[in-house]
Amino acid sequence: MPDACVHDTPDTPQAPPCTLVIFGAGGDLTKRLLMPALYNLAGGGLLDEKFSVLGVDHNPLTDDGWRDDLTKTMDSFTKDPSAEFHAERIDPRPWGFVRDRLHVMQGDFSDEATFKDLAGRLTGNVVFYLAVSARFFGPVVEGLGKAGLLKQTDDAFRRVIIEKPFGSDLASAKALNQTILAQGEEGQFYRIDHFLGKETVQSLLAIRFANAMLEPIWRRDYVDHVEITAAETIGVEERGRFYEPTGALRDMVPNHLFQLLTMVAMEPPGSFDAEAVRDEKTRLVTAIRPVTPENAVRGQYAAGREAGKDVPAYRDEPDVAKDSRTETYVALKLEIENERWSGVPFFLRTGKRLADRRTEIAVHFKPAPFTLFRGTDGGDLAPNVMRLRIDPKPGSATHLNVKRPGPQMHLSVIETGFCYGDFFDPAPTVGYETLIYDCMMGDPTLFQRADTIEASWAAVDPLIQAWKDAPVCFYPAGAPGPKEADDLLARDGRSWLPLGDTKTEDV
Ligand code: BG6
Repeated sequence: MPDACVHDTPDTPQAPPCTLVIFGAGGDLTKRLLMPALYNLAGGGLLDEKFSVLGVDHNPLTDDGWRDDLTKTMDSFTKDPSAEFHAERIDPRPWGFVRDRLHVMQGDFSDEATFKDLAGRLTGNVVFYLAVSARFFGPVVEGLGKAGLLKQTDDAFRRVIIEKPFGSDLASAKALNQTILAQGEEGQFYRIDHFLGKETVQSLLAIRFANAMLEPIWRRDYVDHVEITAAETIGVEERGRFYEPTGALRDMVPNHLFQLLTMVAMEPPGSFDAEAVRDEKTRLVTAIRPVTPENAVRGQYAAGREAGKDVPAYRDEPDVAKDSRTETYVALKLEIENERWSGVPFFLRTGKRLADRRTEIAVHFKPAPFTLFRGTDGGDLAPNVMRLRIDPKPGSATHLNVKRPGPQMHLSVIETGFCYGDFFDPAPTVGYETLIYDCMMGDPTLFQRADTIEASWAAVDPLIQAWKDAPVCFYPAGAPGPKEADDLLARDGRSWLPLGDTKTEDV
């Protein structure tokens, strides 16, 4: 068995017998994430003996060839510490379990014959995983529907996992929802946002709602503003073709950043029932006032230095236009129009080639009254900040004011906090284990519902439209972002927590 497994608590039930049909069997996602996730699930004993995988790919693949390729890829992870999945060794037992259950067929995703062929092979419970380019989402679901493959019975479920991006604006997301919902019910569609598969994102709800001391202060009376950061040091890599028409706003904001936002700002649901949680998320996203260009900054990285190396400008990356105006950075000021958050700005930023890799939420509280410390050599009385870290070193850190030792009342800010790694064994998860398992179990809590997706696009749609012909501002690769993003907060007398500051990571 692997060193530690997800879901390895004794009371986690095994998933029901099921065939996982992966469209895009030969693709990157299958190799990098889906196979390691299945390996981890098998390691945790969570897959039924009758579990099997049927890959569909437009290239000719044989069962043996596919199994050998995937075995080599799994082995390669042991030599690549930078891979999303890294293990010292691949345990032959769980990998053998998965490997022996892999089958593959060739098929064109827009050809009726593919779905007829599939219909002849499939019985019982099936999860269809669309690990394909977004342009195939509609045609594949239509193909499945027309071939009768989405008809459920009391004894057999039929579910579809749809990868990101779900639409590229409000109109296209609505159209895609309409296409898929013509073929099946909402409860059959599991729209993925992989941030929700991250253990620490899920634990945000526990931190908020299981600690009674937080709830009374988690509101406009005590919170000054909230910062949400998803900063990356990598550039666009080999994804220019996808990224050029997409940009940072579409790629990260209405999906990943809004998921973090809902976790930190939604009202407590009545229960952890999937629909109760998803109702509250939708309610929160619907309360976001649509973002306008005055409250947004778009940037693009110019040449610079990252980790001591010269790196090229975005415009010099492969498959990127020399005069591209696609944004690789976005900063936004959001207003949430509800009782809890009215008047509290939420500042969001995300970008590539920034000074630091960091995903975190920082809740900045209002300052304590200075009165008591007037007349003392008080030092700085800084507002409390609670930082909820997702990546790297998941955990939390809180800035507190304490008295410096010595005869005088002199204050200093210290950080107190914890890392998950100090308390729990790290499970070698890639985040997709939970998502695949939950889909097999019929639990959609961590997936996006049609209304949440549409409300998210609605909040950024005015900006998408306004930015069609807008210029970008530039920042050198390796910088914390464009200067204009600092101005966005300075206008309100606030500033971002510095990027590239490693102090917190050492807590
Ligand atoms: C993906 C985006 O959805 O999320 C990428 O398309 C981005 O551009 C990635 O790099 C970030 O995810 P993570 O898990 O690496 O923080």
